[in-house]
Amino acid sequence: MFNALSRQPDDALLALIGLYKQDPRADKVDLGVGVYRDEEGRTPVFRAVKAAERILLDGQDSKAYIGLEGDTVYLDRLWTLVGGEAGARVASAGVQTPGGSGALRLAADLALRGGATRIWVGMPSWPNHAGIFAAAGLEVATYPFFDTATQTVLFDRMIEALDGAEPGDVALLHGSCHNPTGAPLSLDQWATVAATLEKRGVLPLIDLAYQGFGRGLDEDAAGLRHVIASVPEALVAVSSSKSFGLYRERTGAIFAVAAAAGAADLARSNLMALARTSYSMPPDHGAAVVRTILGDAALTRDWTDELNVMRARIEGLRRAMAAGLRGAWPALDAVERQEGMFSLLPLTEAEVLRLRSEHAIYMPTSGRVNIAGLKTAEAEAVMAKIAALR
Ligand SMILES: Cc1ncc(COP(=O)(O)O)c(C=O)c1O
Repeated sequence: MFNALSRQPDDALLALIGLYKQDPRADKVDLGVGVYRDEEGRTPVFRAVKAAERILLDGQDSKAYIGLEGDTVYLDRLWTLVGGEAGARVASAGVQTPGGSGALRLAADLALRGGATRIWVGMPSWPNHAGIFAAAGLEVATYPFFDTATQTVLFDRMIEALDGAEPGDVALLHGSCHNPTGAPLSLDQWATVAATLEKRGVLPLIDLAYQGFGRGLDEDAAGLRHVIASVPEALVAVSSSKSFGLYRERTGAIFAVAAAAGAADLARSNLMALARTSYSMPPDHGAAVVRTILGDAALTRDWTDELNVMRARIEGLRRAMAAGLRGAWPALDAVERQEGMFSLLPLTEAEVLRLRSEHAIYMPTSGRVNIAGLKTAEAEAVMAKIAALR
């Protein structure tokens, strides 16, 4: 049986990590992998996470299953963080998932059960979006989102495409810190998106994977809060991987927002049934850490402080990047106004490969850069090498 299988292409980003590791040059720079890095190039464990883990180590008295729904206290506290006052005003149901990826998959499975056949994904997007939705069995349709050469959101074309969606379709939106472009929507634009989806009877699926990395915890959720306050139903897929630095703990949640509690309960019951026949129950540790941090004012303050430092570092690097690149590419002035870890540089594949071979600067051939991969001291020199391509 196995001999008859065809080989699958390696994940391009994981392959890039391998190439970077093998490069012996001391001044190599990794702008590829999508995790936060500090000035020393490390992906640190948050102080508050360490503190919460110590509390859990001492206090945990069982490793019994936590149930299909997951940790309900985690879900309540996370929903407060994500939904704020808007979240408290709507009927909602949450299920803990293995990471944001697990949440996206359950969202797709639920939409299919609810009769959806198609999901609209803005282009470009995180490549795994289309992969997850197609694997679940949804048809993936695309809408234009971003023009790389001019670094602008193609808002009119996005709305035009979503206006052509059919009732019962699903539309994916990035909550904040768009991956790969970093391009934000204004609140007015969010309102137009929400009105368009409501008018067409399209279910919004909002992917919130970087809350706190863009403008701030509340600011990064403002668009989605507007959506859930103005449409009858929505799905929100949350990843705690970046915001709490819990990548490998596989911590996330899917929230269904409904017009009434009965509908939210039905969504929860189906999400739990779908989880049961997939991974069954979620892992506990990461959710227990988040629950502990969000349940303790001092830990929450310390976590927020550390997140603010990370965001400030990214903002500083964005300013340095725009300053170093706008001479060669005036459009890249926009990098400073973009948010989160990623921007999409208008480089050709040949230019990306030249940076790799001549200067040991690593990024995927799409030109997506993880800005947090830069060290402040080296930013100017790296930008000079990129600018010299033109
Ligand atoms: C846009 C986006 N959504 C969701 C995820 C899922 O993250 P995880 O499954 O690691 O929580 C990622 C991870 O890179 C992402 O970039």
